[in-house]
Amino acid sequence: LEFYLDTADVAQVARFNECLPLRGITTNPTILAKGGKGLNEVLAEMAEVLGADARFHAQVVSKTVDGMVEEAKQINELPYDMVVKVPATETGLAAIRKMKAEGIQVLATAIYSAHQGFLAALAGADYLAPYVNRIDGMGADGVKAVADLQQLLERHGLNSKILAASFKNTQQVTEVMKLGIGAITLPVDVMSQMLGHPAVEPAVSQFSLDWENAFGEKLSFE
Ligand code: E4P
Repeated sequence: LEFYLDTADVAQVARFNECLPLRGITTNPTILAKGGKGLNEVLAEMAEVLGADARFHAQVVSKTVDGMVEEAKQINELPYDMVVKVPATETGLAAIRKMKAEGIQVLATAIYSAHQGFLAALAGADYLAPYVNRIDGMGADGVKAVADLQQLLERHGLNSKILAASFKNTQQVTEVMKLGIGAITLPVDVMSQMLGHPAVEPAVSQFSLDWENAFGEKLSFE
């Protein structure tokens, strides 16, 4: 499983990189706009923390095929392992075909249904990013969309890897991971929730208290 954080916050990436093998980070224009730093600055900071093997996903913003392809080439020239994110629209799929002819790594993003993701796979996308929480928020079933997409890929022998995205709670994450998908990206708050069950801290504190009351602060074998 490739495990990504969906953030431009380098402090949080450094924090989780201490305890987990992060494959890299994913970003989108909204995340970068909120962070207030440009792509170059964010990538340089992230590379410092994650090292040379990290993979970064950065999105094009142009609305035309030629514009997207031009931006993809610029992203691809950056001195990192870059994947170009392209919205899986009609225009985006046309751009993806051209990017693949140039040997560029591509992630098809803004996927709201299994059939949309399937078309992006046919167009040649290396990664497919179904938006689990946003699908749930529209009254549909995000986990089922991912399961259906995975089944379509398997049935038709397509090699695109699902990079599940858009999560708001740990239940969504667990259900999607049970499907055995190839990659996932999590926002920092959901990542924190995964380690932050409210019962954990009291349980650990009680162990300390009981031990200290009986034997003092240090571990003793006597
Ligand atoms: C990833 O490709 C998406 O940009 C991202 O995960 C969307 O997440 P959101 O629905 O929390 O904005």
